[in-house]
Amino acid sequence: MTMSLLRTVILVWVISFKLVFAFQDDLLKTCSQSGFCHRNRQYAKNIRESKKLHYLIDEDSLEFNTNTHNLRGYILKSVQANKKETKVSLPFTLDFIDGDKVRFRLDEDRSNSLDQPGINSRRYNCTETWAFGPDYTPLKQKATLKPPTVFNKKYTLIAGKFTVLLDPNNFRIEVQYNSKDVLTVNADNLLNFEHYRTIEENFENMNEEEEAFNMFKDSFADSKLDTIPFGPESVALDFKFHDISNLYGIPEHADSFKLRDTSKSDPYRLYNVDVFQYNLNSTMPMYGAVPLVIGIEDSMSIGLFWVNPADTWVDIRYEETGSSTHWMSESGIIDFIIIVHETPKLVTESYVNITGKPMLPLLPSIGYHQCRWNYNDEKDILSVDSLMDKWQIPYDFLWLDLEYTDQKRYFTWKPDAFPEPLRMLRKLYTTGRNLVTLIDPHIKTNYHISDSILSAGVAVKNAIQKPFFGQCWPGESLWIDTFSPLANKVWSKFVQTFVSYATNLYIWNDMNEPSIFDGPETTAPKDLIHHEGFEERAVHNLYGLTVHQATYDSYIDMNPNKRPFILTRAFFSGSQRTAATWTGDNLANWGYLQLSIPMILSQNIAGMPVAGADIAGFFGNPDDELLIRWYQAGMWYPFFRAHAHLDTKRREPYLFNEPTRSIVTQYIKLRYQLLPTFYTAFHDSHTRGVPIMNPMIYEHPRVPAFYDLDDQFYLGEQGILVKPVTTPGTDNVSVTFPAGIFYDLHTLKTAHVGLLETKIVPSPIHALPAYIEGGHIITKKEQYRRSSKLMQYDPYTLVIAPNVEGKATGRLYIDDGETFSYKEGQYLDIEMEYTRQALTGKVINKFESSDFNTVTIDKVIIAKYPGEQFGDSCTLQSNGAERDIKIVHDVHSHVVKNLGIKVGEDWKILL
Ligand code: NOJ
Repeated sequence: MTMSLLRTVILVWVISFKLVFAFQDDLLKTCSQSGFCHRNRQYAKNIRESKKLHYLIDEDSLEFNTNTHNLRGYILKSVQANKKETKVSLPFTLDFIDGDKVRFRLDEDRSNSLDQPGINSRRYNCTETWAFGPDYTPLKQKATLKPPTVFNKKYTLIAGKFTVLLDPNNFRIEVQYNSKDVLTVNADNLLNFEHYRTIEENFENMNEEEEAFNMFKDSFADSKLDTIPFGPESVALDFKFHDISNLYGIPEHADSFKLRDTSKSDPYRLYNVDVFQYNLNSTMPMYGAVPLVIGIEDSMSIGLFWVNPADTWVDIRYEETGSSTHWMSESGIIDFIIIVHETPKLVTESYVNITGKPMLPLLPSIGYHQCRWNYNDEKDILSVDSLMDKWQIPYDFLWLDLEYTDQKRYFTWKPDAFPEPLRMLRKLYTTGRNLVTLIDPHIKTNYHISDSILSAGVAVKNAIQKPFFGQCWPGESLWIDTFSPLANKVWSKFVQTFVSYATNLYIWNDMNEPSIFDGPETTAPKDLIHHEGFEERAVHNLYGLTVHQATYDSYIDMNPNKRPFILTRAFFSGSQRTAATWTGDNLANWGYLQLSIPMILSQNIAGMPVAGADIAGFFGNPDDELLIRWYQAGMWYPFFRAHAHLDTKRREPYLFNEPTRSIVTQYIKLRYQLLPTFYTAFHDSHTRGVPIMNPMIYEHPRVPAFYDLDDQFYLGEQGILVKPVTTPGTDNVSVTFPAGIFYDLHTLKTAHVGLLETKIVPSPIHALPAYIEGGHIITKKEQYRRSSKLMQYDPYTLVIAPNVEGKATGRLYIDDGETFSYKEGQYLDIEMEYTRQALTGKVINKFESSDFNTVTIDKVIIAKYPGEQFGDSCTLQSNGAERDIKIVHDVHSHVVKNLGIKVGEDWKILL
């Protein structure tokens, strides 16, 4: 057996059968083993000491276009080596866009470099084709340029609230906002642009601060075969955030929400890889990558979007006067966008304006998903379906993992296990339920799907331009190159043929980092070749997005007015437009439950709100306490799915012992009751990009107590504050309440009134600490149904949580939950306002000729607040009529029932 085959066998064994609960660290490079990370960290250290300046702006090249308001020119890199000086000209552009952003790009002309047929010598500069929303057209902002004067030796660009200073004698960009220094680019002179040179020319192309480590070879055991055709080509740059010492973002990492200082560890790495049983509290790379950092301080928030999909490491340093980030990418261009706002939420919104709004999910997909590797056959599926009903546990999706296929050939069904998939799908459909099947981008060789990919010439190629073959679940496989438009057409045909006969069949794109069992670092060799001759090295972190987008587009081509549902494991900036994601192969232990919250929070602020984590841990068997606590937390994940490994004990909730079964069922039901509130939050997120699992600091950006708090959060902007219990043996937890009034979500008892305060609250095993913040109105549907579809026309209940002034507001968004008709105005948008005198509902957008107009609001519950006066009846005015209705006084609330208000009409209740 060859070494690589042996490794593959061991890997498949580790992943599939052996529950060795730890990640095998030697699969991945450390920074010092990664050529470009090693070189750039070393360069950073040396240049900080030498203080030499190797980059300056070529003043003669500067061109300011007064029509497009964009500045172009060249940066000169000077190399002193071998007793001579070489100058390399690097073209740059600087733009002010949308009134809140500065974009800078720095490239290299490599047209005369490598002459190897089939490999594109251009540095990859098409990231935005994939990462930016299709409708994004940057709005050029008017700017003026002032040349240096005796007093101010810098070029000054002024555009709206921005002032940008460029030092001609060095390359440095100082960004001011409202006349305040906010960010300096290249403050520490860490700019390093490894320009093209051959191995023979290398010695005269390196400054003394540079190191030659692995410039033309890779000494890491698993990637020694990397051909590295362009030699060293990394780009690196530092950014100083002035007076900001709280940085967040750059998912995906299993670490705290606030990024940590990496001076004494490896940098955070953004490189999409398969990290089964990943380490906790780690900067290691994971399945997805969003190169966006957000700095938050008091009245200023800054986003830094590094538009580069190559293998990237990010060093974070907290300093006395702020913080700094050092970005190092293996290849591509330097392309970054700085976003400045008063609040972090506006930064996220602005970032989402570039990369595209998160999709508005299919309404059932925000219900509960029951998954495992694997449900064995049709009988198994239908038995889970009926047992969920027997135990009155609502759910919307069942999932089929890998084994439903005929010998791991995607787009096929195992014939004896699923002889009539349509029959099964129809049965699920009768209760509005759906099925998801796993379809990965690695395609087993020698069957009609891989044959078509080969004959269309759309397989990913190896370094010598031949189709690449590697090992994954099916054994020998090839990978579809979804960067290619032709590959998308081919894929679309496969998808459509597979799903077109059912309306409730959806797709999960897994292993799309891509995961390659015999590949270096669990993924693709970096010298593979994609469409247009670009190396994997240049586009790696985008691949997963191209796969799930191709799947999404296949659905849209088939049925343009139906929302698809796609789950992806790998992601990049822009994935939010078309897919949901989750945190991959976690373990059934408390640490993974704890970190699922900061992980999902990080994705939410980076524009990827529809995220979840496998409940209650993919590997291993959770005990009852962990199961209960995980469901209590998981019901708040935007994507709410239970999933488990092949080797684990069955854990459909009806199998749990009492009281576990009842408690878990209670929380799944709570999610269903709150679906109207969740869906309204998803709609806010779809229209503005705001988080669904929403960090405390996003709602209270001026409260320092929240900078480090990542174990409690809000549900969107709906005013529900949640503190899940994520430690074992706990009967009480501490909750930090912001100033105001908070009511217990379950009882409406006042839990906190006054200023910011951390309180110990009881949290016995059946209890989930969750509160409604005074000032909000939330919406519910209280009746149990088997699925969300069956709840569509059920009446609404409003829960009013008055603030200290006795006021509250809320919004309810309703549409058909499955089409894009809402884009043509087919939705109901209702604004509600409560004062001590009245509660009013105003229809802001009416969904004409819809059955929804007749759905009713039947009940109003008003939490009791201090110092109130409440009578025993109220008057409902609606539809031109008036009627008196009784108010029932409960222990912690006042309840009005049998209202029968039509949601499509304006109404008023006089109190
Ligand atoms: C890896 C995924 O992370 C996991 O969720 C799935 O069950 C297995 N692949 C098998 O398809």
